[in-house]
Amino acid sequence: MTEKIPLLIDTDPGVDDALALLMAFNDTAHEVVGLTVAAGNVGLGRTVRNALKLCEVAGRSDVPVYAGCPGPLLHPSPDAADVHGRDGFGDVGYAPAAHGTQAEHAALAILRLSHVHAGRLLLVTLGPLTNLALALKLDPTLPHRVARLVVMGGAVSAHGNLTPAAEFNVAFDPEAAHLVFDAFPTFDVVDWEATLAHGLPHASVEQWLAAPSPRAAFYEQISRQTRLWSADRRGDHWHSADALAMALALHPEGASSLAERPLAVELAGILTRGATVTDWNRQTGRPDNARLLLAYDRRRFEALVQAALAAT
Ligand code: RIB
Ligand code: CA
Repeated sequence: MTEKIPLLIDTDPGVDDALALLMAFNDTAHEVVGLTVAAGNVGLGRTVRNALKLCEVAGRSDVPVYAGCPGPLLHPSPDAADVHGRDGFGDVGYAPAAHGTQAEHAALAILRLSHVHAGRLLLVTLGPLTNLALALKLDPTLPHRVARLVVMGGAVSAHGNLTPAAEFNVAFDPEAAHLVFDAFPTFDVVDWEATLAHGLPHASVEQWLAAPSPRAAFYEQISRQTRLWSADRRGDHWHSADALAMALALHPEGASSLAERPLAVELAGILTRGATVTDWNRQTGRPDNARLLLAYDRRRFEALVQAALAAT
């Protein structure tokens, strides 16, 4: 029997993070070896509580959860409570999970698990890159032990969401993103523009959420506020950035178009701080460090989301 691929997810739950986690828990080829939690969508205390609760709802309280950094490396940044709710999970007032986090810091857990699973680890980041950047500062050899890194973040042609030029995960902690992009020789990127190009029809999502599953029922509740917000502002498709990133991570064969280019982060710009700058014409002479998702098989993506919600 083929050994499962060890999957470590750094996340700032967040409603779309939660969908990505359900997809990971529903995949039989990967074993989720841990969740390292970042501040981002909402404060760390709430993202940790949300990660624990999502594990409990999915029947995966066995998955170790590690709390990470309470904020960006250098400069404070606004959260995304306006999108995800004050508590990050739609303010539905769920009962807290019965279990708690591990004592180990997320950055140390990333390093330890990279040794435990050296050469095989799939690392997926769904939030700001603070924890991973801290791990890199503690041990710059980390990238040698990571088989593959998939990052949800950036806006490859500077169509941002947090600012006109910058996407939330990168712009929340640009220095962290810079350290990560500079340290890993190659990584996959699912950016905000790819997210917008792969919206999920609200009508289909509502059908999937009616599945007779505790996961679907919980997700219907916590996603209701942000789905209404999305329908009001963005029309008849709902955009789940982290779910698309998890689809690429779990099933890279679903990518129908990718581009490899040098990718860097703007740290100093007044209007563009946190923007991801893609060297489309390779003018800088820097290596192609980023493999950018341009198109993914929509049917496959939708099937993965539907199956994750229906799983019991
Ligand atoms: O820009 C979208 C990203 O920022 C997603 O990961 C969302 O959860 C937030 O973290
Ligand atoms: Ca996220």
